[in-house]
Amino acid sequence: MSVQVQSERLATVMPDMLAAIHEVIERHRVTEAEWMTALQFLTEVGRADEFILFSDVTRTSVLIDTLEHGGDESGATASDVEGPMYTVEPPFRKKIYEEYEGMGDDDPLFVRGRVTSTTGEPLPGAIVDVWQTGPAGGYDIWDERQPEGNFRGRIKAEEDGSYEFQTMLPKPYTVPTSGPVGRYLEAVGQHPWRPAHIHLKVTAPGHRPLVTQVFFPDDPYLENDTIGAVKPALVRPVEKHDDHLTCDFDVKLAPQSA
Ligand code: BEZ
Ligand code: FE
Repeated sequence: MSVQVQSERLATVMPDMLAAIHEVIERHRVTEAEWMTALQFLTEVGRADEFILFSDVTRTSVLIDTLEHGGDESGATASDVEGPMYTVEPPFRKKIYEEYEGMGDDDPLFVRGRVTSTTGEPLPGAIVDVWQTGPAGGYDIWDERQPEGNFRGRIKAEEDGSYEFQTMLPKPYTVPTSGPVGRYLEAVGQHPWRPAHIHLKVTAPGHRPLVTQVFFPDDPYLENDTIGAVKPALVRPVEKHDDHLTCDFDVKLAPQSA
């Protein structure tokens, strides 16, 4: 009795995937003990909920993002990987943080721009969803000094598509290293640092959602982000004013049909 193929795509991709894995195992004469260690490691990655992190640090997420959007001729803003730190539906607010002990006294940063369609028309009501680390202590989830949801927020674009939010310039940080992925990084000699960045997820009706990141010049990790996610088009200057900083970041979304 023949088993019905449930997924054409799986039936196409899996034999090649397995052939590639088998070829590497054969070429390196991987031992039984090594294979068991690998399976144990993957089990731990799953238990620790670190599969997205593992996909990121092995630069598989970047590869998938490039395949999905790399040849995008639509004129949309360059996309980037989402990473594992997004949390859904942060509050609508223009200042996306509350002060916390030890955050330092850096000047605030205003990120601003316009959300338009690639055809140039403004997209009023577009939602700009942002998340980032603070100026000290990383993401709110890791730093008990920060209130829950700190440095996360949503902003609704105005009639002319403009948006602005108040934040602080983030700093480079290390991806989580206390779990199995941290052990992996140490074992293969890969550093865990990411350059400072702000994540954005931008949505508007009738347009393809965009997930991206903004980076800043002169960061020591721009050239060697541990997840390899820096794109030159996403590195934006920061302008210094008397008591604050600004960074301009216009966002173009492709119409759904494009
Ligand atoms: C992030 O950018 O938030 C991130 C990406 C990969 C791993 C961990 C964090
Ligand atoms: Fe991040």
